[in-house]
Amino acid sequence: MQETINKLLQFGKGILAADESTHTIEKRFASLGLISTPELNKKYREMLFTTEGIENYLGGVILYDESTKQNLHNILQEKGIIAGIKVDEGLESFNGTEEQLTKGLDTLDMRLKEYFDLGLKFTKWRGVFKITDIFPSPSFLEENLNRMVEYVKISIQNNMVPIVEPEILLDGNHTTTRCAEISVVVWQMLFDKLKEANIDLKNIILKTNMVLPGKDSGVKAAPLEVAEATLRSLEKSVPIGIGGVVFLSGGQTPDEATNNLNEIVKRRKDASWTISFSYSRALQEEVMATWAGKGENIISAQKVFLDRLERVSKARNGQL
Ligand code: 13P
Repeated sequence: MQETINKLLQFGKGILAADESTHTIEKRFASLGLISTPELNKKYREMLFTTEGIENYLGGVILYDESTKQNLHNILQEKGIIAGIKVDEGLESFNGTEEQLTKGLDTLDMRLKEYFDLGLKFTKWRGVFKITDIFPSPSFLEENLNRMVEYVKISIQNNMVPIVEPEILLDGNHTTTRCAEISVVVWQMLFDKLKEANIDLKNIILKTNMVLPGKDSGVKAAPLEVAEATLRSLEKSVPIGIGGVVFLSGGQTPDEATNNLNEIVKRRKDASWTISFSYSRALQEEVMATWAGKGENIISAQKVFLDRLERVSKARNGQL
């Protein structure tokens, strides 16, 4: 597992999340007037994965189950990119409230065995935490984080690196301070629980949000402010010895996600975590719009994709 982590997060490299669920890719395509079908999803993702040179910037790609059935992991593996897989099965209501728990533990062990046999080397489990004046509630935190820890155990038992993804959502009108407060609570509780379960923390990667003001707050934080708030919060709650920290883009624009990452890496202490990216939207927004479902746009779309990857890779090194 250490070898996998080293390859995923080596200098200049990060992870592409191309693991949109059926519903999520439907939404992304619909915003461009396209109707998602397994065939069109395959064409789109094939275009991403066959882009020449992506192996210079990507250590790994997270897939969705549909793509493994279409054998898309083979394209990645031939390029020396490690294929991984989203293994949660989405969300379910918590006690009829607005809070949503992640589901998918029941069949997890069986599914991981199949993925391992395909050569997939890591997994991802996403939990979402919504900020309001009253949420996240203590009982929700307890249950959702217990499920995450259970997932981590099962992934490690199956020799697959777990990428544990608590996402504190950008939705809402909260301040940066409130986002920092909730991020610290969630990360601290998660790591307390992982330690209690005797998980060897060097084998796990934390994928999480940057500390930002809510999308509806009317406030835009500058990269320096984002970097300082994010690093301060991580330092309070995330042990140094974990496998690495990768950020999701979470609804930031491609430029925001790139510039904020650059600033975080520049300002992190030398002896802290390996930091990198695991973006979906910030890496895919431009390429998807340029492609727009048309074969004749593939070459220009692939160029747009490679350009964004190159910038994000520089940001991952703090070299922008
Ligand atoms: P975004 O970068 O679009 O937030 O997606 C990351 C991800 O993997 C969400 O699960």
